[in-house]
Amino acid sequence: MKVFRTTASWRRWRKSLRKNLSLGFVPTMGALHAGHLSLVEKSQKVCDRTVVSIFVNPTQFGPNEDFKKYPRTESQDLALLKQAGVDAVYMPKNPSEVYSSADQTRVSPRLDLAKILEGRFRPGHFEGVATVVAKLFGIVSPEKAFFGEKDYQQLQVISAMVEDLFMPVKIVACPTFREKSGLAMSSRNRYLPENEKIAAAALYRVLKKAGSLEGGRKHLNALGFKLEYLECWSKDLSEEKPDGHGLWLVAARFKGVRLIDNLRR
Ligand code: PAJ
Repeated sequence: MKVFRTTASWRRWRKSLRKNLSLGFVPTMGALHAGHLSLVEKSQKVCDRTVVSIFVNPTQFGPNEDFKKYPRTESQDLALLKQAGVDAVYMPKNPSEVYSSADQTRVSPRLDLAKILEGRFRPGHFEGVATVVAKLFGIVSPEKAFFGEKDYQQLQVISAMVEDLFMPVKIVACPTFREKSGLAMSSRNRYLPENEKIAAAALYRVLKKAGSLEGGRKHLNALGFKLEYLECWSKDLSEEKPDGHGLWLVAARFKGVRLIDNLRR
């Protein structure tokens, strides 16, 4: 497995890759878990070579969010990726490998997608995500890129960006990988002790079983979740479905950890 710490060294390797080999790309912020590895596995199934990026992107964190505290587990991540048989890791040694100091270019995502749900609680978040993913696509130049449905709105924002900007990359959506309890795997789960991880799985049970949105909201609040939203939308997020027939999406804080999840029903 090759590890690239600079954009220049990565690009040299990218140029040397035979043209007839397809490159699959899994962008991540590290602190890798089985959910990330399920994306890697999918890429390895459908592409000749697979590259993973590990970059905690400063522009997608709000001023009061956990950029500084975001879990960084570099050597563990590299061991996992090596074991998984990944061909290359692009892991810029500092943000200036991606953002030059003079650089002001930003990608403004489709507002109808970026302002709802997460966008109401994390202003600017999807602009940061769209910008870094556009940059990573430019740097990595993959044929296919793999994103998890766990971050459903992110997947829609990126798919719309690729479509609107005619980017030559195919976005592949991958199902949410869960703990046995049903809790969606997430890098931030490592902040939760084991017993609280079990309790946090109530989030998934509510998505699955609540009779109504209002019922689900009450239930989560009673269980100690600080709910940000529990809403139901059409699959393409174009239309809210207050009757609960569609995709349920939730964000809540539990024991200080921000969790998101979604489920089609
Ligand atoms: P990160 O949270 O590290 O997630 C990287 C990818 O893994 C995303 O596509 C995410 O949806 C997927 N993923 C995370 N948990 C998953 C799970 N339990 N099951 C399936 N897929 C899962 O998302 C980001 O990083 C960043 O915003 C990024 C796209 C890298 C841009 O900075």
